[in-house]
Amino acid sequence: MYRTHTCGALRLQDAGREVTLAGWVQSIRKFGSITFVDLRDRYGITQLLFDEALNRELEDNPLGREYVLQVKGAVAERSNKNSHIPTGDIEIHVTGFSILNKSVTPPFTIQDDTDGGDDLRMKFRYLDLRRNAVKRNLELRYAVSRSARNYLHEHGFMDIETPFLIKSTPEGARDFVVPSRMNAGQFYALPQSPQTFKQLLMVSGYDRYYQVVKCFRDEDLRADRQPEFTQIDCEMSFVEQEDILHMFEGLIKRIFKDVKNIDYTEQVERMSWEDAMWNYGNDKPDIRFGMRIANLKFPAYAFPGKKPALAEGLPAEFKVFDEAETVLAIAVPGCSEYSRKQTDELTEWVKRPQIGMKGLAFIKCLPEGNSDGAFKSSFDKFYNEQQLKELAGAVNAQAGDLVLILAGAEERTRKAVSELRLEMGRRLGLRKDDAFKLLWVLDFPLFEYAEEDNRWVARHHPFTSPKPQDIETMISHSPVITDAVKYLEHPYARIKANAYDMVLNGNEIGGGSIRIFQRNLQEKMFSALGMSRDEALHKFGFLLGAFEYGAPPHGGIAFGFDRLCAILGGSESIRDFIAFPKNNSGRDTMLDAPSTIDEKQLEELSIALRES
Ligand code: AMO
Repeated sequence: MYRTHTCGALRLQDAGREVTLAGWVQSIRKFGSITFVDLRDRYGITQLLFDEALNRELEDNPLGREYVLQVKGAVAERSNKNSHIPTGDIEIHVTGFSILNKSVTPPFTIQDDTDGGDDLRMKFRYLDLRRNAVKRNLELRYAVSRSARNYLHEHGFMDIETPFLIKSTPEGARDFVVPSRMNAGQFYALPQSPQTFKQLLMVSGYDRYYQVVKCFRDEDLRADRQPEFTQIDCEMSFVEQEDILHMFEGLIKRIFKDVKNIDYTEQVERMSWEDAMWNYGNDKPDIRFGMRIANLKFPAYAFPGKKPALAEGLPAEFKVFDEAETVLAIAVPGCSEYSRKQTDELTEWVKRPQIGMKGLAFIKCLPEGNSDGAFKSSFDKFYNEQQLKELAGAVNAQAGDLVLILAGAEERTRKAVSELRLEMGRRLGLRKDDAFKLLWVLDFPLFEYAEEDNRWVARHHPFTSPKPQDIETMISHSPVITDAVKYLEHPYARIKANAYDMVLNGNEIGGGSIRIFQRNLQEKMFSALGMSRDEALHKFGFLLGAFEYGAPPHGGIAFGFDRLCAILGGSESIRDFIAFPKNNSGRDTMLDAPSTIDEKQLEELSIALRES
């Protein structure tokens, strides 16, 4: 037997027991004629004591870091206890040992605060995985998957695998493709998600499906994106949006309870996409704090009947506001006393290329009683106190707040103010890793306008159904956008989808929709997206065909499993929660993949590479 116990198992009550342990040498400390060794495995660390007699044996067979060692000995109470580890009250008085395998010196120290940089740790990921910090992340990942599977199983969901070698699924990214040797010149696509398969399973009658499944998307990578990532993918038949929201907030609440011991008893908040965009500047707002965005200047169609604070005709002559397409502001609580240095630093922050603004205007709503007057701004020359008060009022600023204002082109300014809000929330400590706030974002637009192709694209995917009240608009209008009918005024711009995203702390952790399940509406959808009949048949004939054999009403959702784990683990990067992740260029530096393949392999695949 290699071991009687693990390195995390023994306690004071085991004193006197004869045991055998096996593990990795974490550290070696020599004190005169005795040697202490910390032995590590997945379960913990146990201290070993080699006495004088064994020390001589050690001299003949020296140990090194990361050697695989087996020891026999007796459990004994330690004189110098370590309260930081569960085995800290005991040590093993070694009576015999055997080196099971040696190790060369590892390229970085295998401990919590390692000296290894990111690249090195990725190249030697199998060593990195020995570290506690990474191990804890993988344990959390396993706990999330176990909790999700239990919940789904208890609610009658069936885990069904779907193929990886398929035909393209449109989820908005590029496909990874795999050449077929047996079908020269033809390619499979790896699934961006099992979307069409789970819908086919509904047609087949498996009315509650789930899968913890790999998805593949060739898109630009960020901290929360990997080219292959995992979804908790689910689908249900005979459901409406409300059923789905209820079932899956249950899932997330269960995961909170099982993994973090959090009782999330409050109602999950809901917000329309439009409110999210206007009030938070993006479709995945972090609602752990307020600081809502105010529109000081907006087009009439946005808020019918409302007059913007910076309405035309204001006698300001302040070009920055007058000439801007949009002017957006937030009121940052308690920051009215910011120094010049601090406001300058914030101005530099918004001017960084990632944010891309030309400058930042501000109003300090000084605490009442200040002899300078109640309002001071970076544009005092143009606005009198009353006007400043009105602007501050439009952002609901209180005495003591600092109003930050960005002006510019619509999209860029909205993005910038949304980033600024998040940054100020972070600086003020309002975005703590251990506070969790869920939100459903609802009523997304069905279509998005793709300027480069002058056509509509599906905002979610082409299988998402329009809201019942909008179906008629979709059927009765042509999708064509002409110069006369600008896309914002096109009826399609107002069609809402039966779609929903789940947002956790400002991250989209899941998204789904109620699907189209009738052939004619699905065909109409494809044609609205500019697909010819032939193209639709070629790409999705199987689905259209299936819809003719009694497709039930259905809908579903998929959660980004890696993202969910990262947020629960308090990390920005999903890489930390994936055993063998890719780097930012999509490379596995450990395997050195992707890589070239043999001429012979290319030949078998009938592929000739183009000279570059
Ligand atoms: P969607 O494309 O919104 O929906 O994806 C669902 C969730 O998957 C996560 N996600 C990612 N995680 C890591 N890396 C990526 N590259 C990545 N892309 C997406 C996000 C996202 O919310 N078939 C539909 C679901 C449905 O309609 O049921 C789909 O895939 O957290």
